[in-house]
Amino acid sequence: MEMASASLEEEIIMSLLDRIRQRQGEEQMTQPPILGQDQKQERERQRKDDTFNELKGKVHLKLLNLLDLSRLMEASESALQEDLRRGVEMILAEDKIPLPSPEKERLCREIRNELLGYGPLEPLLSDPGINDILVNSYDRVYVERRGKLEPSAIRFTDNAHLLKIIEKIASGVGRRIDESCPMVDARLPDGSRVNAIIPPLALDGPALSIRKFSRIPITVADLIGFGAITAEMAEALQGMVRARLNILISGGTGSGKTTFLNVLSSFIPYDERIITIEDSAELQLQQDHVVRLETRPPNLEGQGEVTQRDLVRNALRMRPERIILGEVRGGEALDMLQAMNTGHDGSLATIHANSPRDALTRLETMVSMAGLNLPDKATRHQISSAIHVVIQLARLSDGTRKMINLYEIVGMEGDMITMQEIYSFNLMGLTEDRKVKGRFIASGIRPKFMKRLEGMGIALPSSLFQDS
Ligand SMILES: Nc1ncnc2c1ncn2[C@@H]1O[C@H](COP(=O)(O)OP(=O)(O)OP(=O)(O)O)[C@@H](O)[C@H]1O
Ligand SMILES: [Mg+2]
Repeated sequence: MEMASASLEEEIIMSLLDRIRQRQGEEQMTQPPILGQDQKQERERQRKDDTFNELKGKVHLKLLNLLDLSRLMEASESALQEDLRRGVEMILAEDKIPLPSPEKERLCREIRNELLGYGPLEPLLSDPGINDILVNSYDRVYVERRGKLEPSAIRFTDNAHLLKIIEKIASGVGRRIDESCPMVDARLPDGSRVNAIIPPLALDGPALSIRKFSRIPITVADLIGFGAITAEMAEALQGMVRARLNILISGGTGSGKTTFLNVLSSFIPYDERIITIEDSAELQLQQDHVVRLETRPPNLEGQGEVTQRDLVRNALRMRPERIILGEVRGGEALDMLQAMNTGHDGSLATIHANSPRDALTRLETMVSMAGLNLPDKATRHQISSAIHVVIQLARLSDGTRKMINLYEIVGMEGDMITMQEIYSFNLMGLTEDRKVKGRFIASGIRPKFMKRLEGMGIALPSSLFQDS
């Protein structure tokens, strides 16, 4: 390893130590006389973090001169760790910066994450307990654990650092993010879904939202275990999917729509040809006979976009037995409904809405986006004859996610689509530790679709639809 001339950096690091001492002095002078213990600890932690980050920045910079990056990228993980450690030791020794060994290890680990990974995001990405990572600005990072958002102690050095990580993510999928193109959707190599938005659109610096991809998908047994549905509901749902009902899964952001869709898809028999259409492929079907399609955003010149609508139309020419649409958002709603009404039943889709009624209204709006100018009543008629079941999901105040309604569409009454409730979750307040109290109830109505199930030889005990 060849040591580059580094007098400039030397100066920087020496002056860093001076600054640390100076800052400690300043702090003593400017500290307000009374601080709460928590505040003191937080301040102390921040100060240590800032000092550490400063040191990391300097060592990182020096290392870049010292190491051959392209060679590093190709080296094995252990060779890389070794090179990094040697480099860091050299720099610290030369500059006479004593550092306890745990700190030294942390320095090596974080620099490795900067060089090869996504910096401060790495520990969050590798923590299986975290679902979502939300970066509001360089020093404000939230994570979702067990359905609850909580602040994280992770921080970036500054907004420029955060932007650098965002650029790295975007360039990883061949996209660019800058002032002229300040929003980007991307995916991490592990499949996690990423959205980034930067100034001037984001006012307080770059913002980043990550929905982590879990390699082990949630199964129907998990949903029952989490209390998202009951075993009886699972059995009924399986019958509905087998009987090729068209099912719409409605829910708010992060309410578990994609997860539920994936679980319902697992009920599709293995010999049926499935085509999935998504903006960002998240579904993990276990069947073999699956063709996965993904939309494409326009390129930098604004060309080459392939929309969900294009893909639905194309899918219809691929002899599908099932079409699974990740999320209906626009004009593809019309093509989807038409397909469902012309023999392509058994389709599944999610929609962003707060109630089954809201889901139907939104669907209507989306159909109008297709630009056919259908009269309202005709659109509603299409919807009511195409869709059999609407499921509503929600994330409740204690962070749990549940199926809170299942409605069957029964037809039209005048201009209105009529629905009947088959299942619901009856919320009965909160326990002392703020957990949701409640129970699932069956309305007792025998669904109309039972006839269809019976016609297909799918026998469900009628007790599934009675309240126990
Ligand atoms: N019933 C559940 N219990 C616990 N966690 C769940 C449940 N359903 C989904 N999750 C987790 O919640 C997160 C959000 O789920 P999912 O991606 O399915 O939501 P979504 O409604 O599709 O979100 P978006 O609106 O962002 O597309 C995921 O990390 C998922 O693993
Ligand atoms: Mg989703």
